[in-house]
Amino acid sequence: MINALAERRVLLGVTAGIAAYKAADLVRRLREAGADVRVVMTPGATGFVGPLTFQALSGHPVRVELLDADAEAGMAHIDIARWADIVVVAPATADFLARLAHGQADDLLSTVCLATAAPLVLAPAMNQQMWRAAATQANCALLAGRGVDRLGPDEGRQSCGDNGPGRLVEPPAILAALERRFVSGALAGRSVLVTAGPTREPIDPVRYVSNHSSGRMGYAVARAAAEAGARVTLVSGPTALDTPAAVTRIDVATAEEMASAVRARLAGADIFIGTAAVADYRPAHVAAHKIKKDAATLTLALERTTDILAEAARREPPLFAVGFAAETGDLERYARAKLIDKHLDLVAANLVGTPGIGFNTEDNELVVFWADGQRRLTRAPKDRIARELVALIADRYAQTRAAATSADAPAAQEARA
Ligand code: PMT
Repeated sequence: MINALAERRVLLGVTAGIAAYKAADLVRRLREAGADVRVVMTPGATGFVGPLTFQALSGHPVRVELLDADAEAGMAHIDIARWADIVVVAPATADFLARLAHGQADDLLSTVCLATAAPLVLAPAMNQQMWRAAATQANCALLAGRGVDRLGPDEGRQSCGDNGPGRLVEPPAILAALERRFVSGALAGRSVLVTAGPTREPIDPVRYVSNHSSGRMGYAVARAAAEAGARVTLVSGPTALDTPAAVTRIDVATAEEMASAVRARLAGADIFIGTAAVADYRPAHVAAHKIKKDAATLTLALERTTDILAEAARREPPLFAVGFAAETGDLERYARAKLIDKHLDLVAANLVGTPGIGFNTEDNELVVFWADGQRRLTRAPKDRIARELVALIADRYAQTRAAATSADAPAAQEARA
């Protein structure tokens, strides 16, 4: 069972409406679903519910003021706008909708909404007459035209005694709508095989040759593919990570174990994604006993390992093969060489010598190359990069299949004739 909100960074905006108390329940539910929640309140909202309530529920300090000298020394409004995977404003008052529709940035929340690239979801709540007012409706239409999502409002009895549209959508329904947003279905029905982590090539019973891969990138890719609806098998080298939900994991240690685990599962796969840092060489001879340190120097003879990715890309009938390229320079040249030499559909290249990205880091940055195109996925936490990569893979996969189907059509027609 996929928990689509697990580890999602949700920024909850709370504005000055009587329904602000329901936002506290929403924070609790989001946390229970595994989301990392930060709350930004408008100054007026603090008159309805105190920031301490949200701080206790979210586990993080609540931000209210735009011109907060301490926080702004580090450009906190930009940092939090970049941090969010999604921004939800619940309740969103008529005043807030108006300010947002007209691009005002006169408090922290409206500034963050302008400064974020994350999707924006508004759950309006107000008196039914204010909701029906032409100005509010025009503001909602403006926002909808810019791709802003709206949940509700619901109809019913209002705290002012009126009856009609303007009630905040209940927190469980907001939660369900957010979950749906994160399950794309772009790979529904597809079978995806992912490799992740390092391999360990034994030298003797106590030593091995390996690398710094933590497995984070590959696990994030497996998780994103499962969220996109795929059946995912993850063949993993040694890591300290938990298996992502709804992913079948096969543990291996050496490159040859990884190669045979992949080989055994290639038949049913539609897409192969090689994220693992597979050792290119292994000791040609593994000593049966611990090598003693008698000699001043020791020379190890190494031999090539199987190229798992290249082997997967040669499968018949062809699958959609995605490789990674870990480079320390000349990114495009080396990545495109791998694309061609290994017969790949896509290669995701990272500059692993750049501090803060690549091996054993929280973040990554990729440039994804294919035969006649490329796209940069700018620096972000690996789970976000993985989701962007999987969305791109799903898109390219669909295009490749559509092209193959239309190329086959005349032949199929001929065969039927
Ligand atoms: O695990 P993390 O700490 O999160 O780090 C992520 C990462 C840096 C390991 C990841 O982003 C990455 O770059 N993975 C590929 C590492 C690598 O081995 O790159 P390469 O350029 O040497 O290999 C090219 C491709 O061939 C890769 O898809 C690799 O999986 C594959 N390969 C390589 C050798 C081999 N014997 N078999 C293979 O399948």
